[in-house]
Amino acid sequence: MGSLKDKTVLIIGGSSGIGLRVAELARAEQAHLIIVGRDEQRLSEASHELAWSGQRVDARRCDAHDHDQLAALFADLPPLDHVVSMVGDVMGGGFLNAEMAVIRHVMESKFFTNVRIGQLAAHKLKEGGSLTFTSGTGGRAQHACASYVGNLGINALVEGLAAELAPRVRVNAVSPTWTLTPFWRNVPAEQVAATKAHFETSIPLGRLASVDELAATYLFLMKNGFITGQHVAVDGGIMLG
Ligand SMILES: NC(=O)c1ccc[n+]([C@@H]2O[C@H](COP(=O)([O-])OP(=O)(O)OC[C@H]3O[C@@H](n4cnc5c(N)ncnc54)[C@H](OP(=O)(O)O)[C@@H]3O)[C@@H](O)[C@H]2O)c1
Repeated sequence: MGSLKDKTVLIIGGSSGIGLRVAELARAEQAHLIIVGRDEQRLSEASHELAWSGQRVDARRCDAHDHDQLAALFADLPPLDHVVSMVGDVMGGGFLNAEMAVIRHVMESKFFTNVRIGQLAAHKLKEGGSLTFTSGTGGRAQHACASYVGNLGINALVEGLAAELAPRVRVNAVSPTWTLTPFWRNVPAEQVAATKAHFETSIPLGRLASVDELAATYLFLMKNGFITGQHVAVDGGIMLG
């Protein structure tokens, strides 16, 4: 297994939740971190938390949904060893009653933005580097239609890019199912509690993932040099039922 010591790791979405934990684990291995997010306060709190032994964290403000901002961000970055994307908005509900604007937004966020990240990252990644996206499992098409299609899109993107970038760069994705993170910060507490209870009973392993179990999978995929084109579900077996 490779090491992250002195490697440059870009985490788009490294200021909160799973991405922040990926950043903490990479920092513990002495990686040089570049974290990206939209919210200035979250970015500043995360970089303060991640600063270690006099080493500052490079925090960049960018809305990845704005592809001009994304291109400007990548143009200004140094060569990279590993890139992680945590970008991907979600929705609930089936196809019949979903608003087209919501379906379009989720596809734009989950699929097209990550395609653009893949295109831009391909030019910055060094030989032996990796690119890890975030997909998802748990929701059926009739329960979360655009999220479901967006996840299928990411899984196809991973396979295509992995073939196009081999042998220079590896490309994979991690698929979480519903997990308690700040992602749900704007959802009423009672609704979050009800969803948590629902997933605890429908996940065959009988509980939610810890953020550590998810974040450790990104590090595994960065460091294992013989895995490419895979989407790894860390979901307690939720799709088995
Ligand atoms: N938590 C779950 O239940 C769950 C389940 C399945 C899949 N996922 C996926 O896992 C990923 C991370 O989720 P999380 O739970 O860790 O959420 P989180 O705590 O909200 O973290 C998301 C991170 O991504 C950044 N981000 C989001 N959109 C961005 C954009 N357009 N441009 C730049 N940065 C952006 C956020 O920063 P700013 O908000 O400041 O921009 C934040 O740093 C998401 O793609 C989500 O769909 C989560």
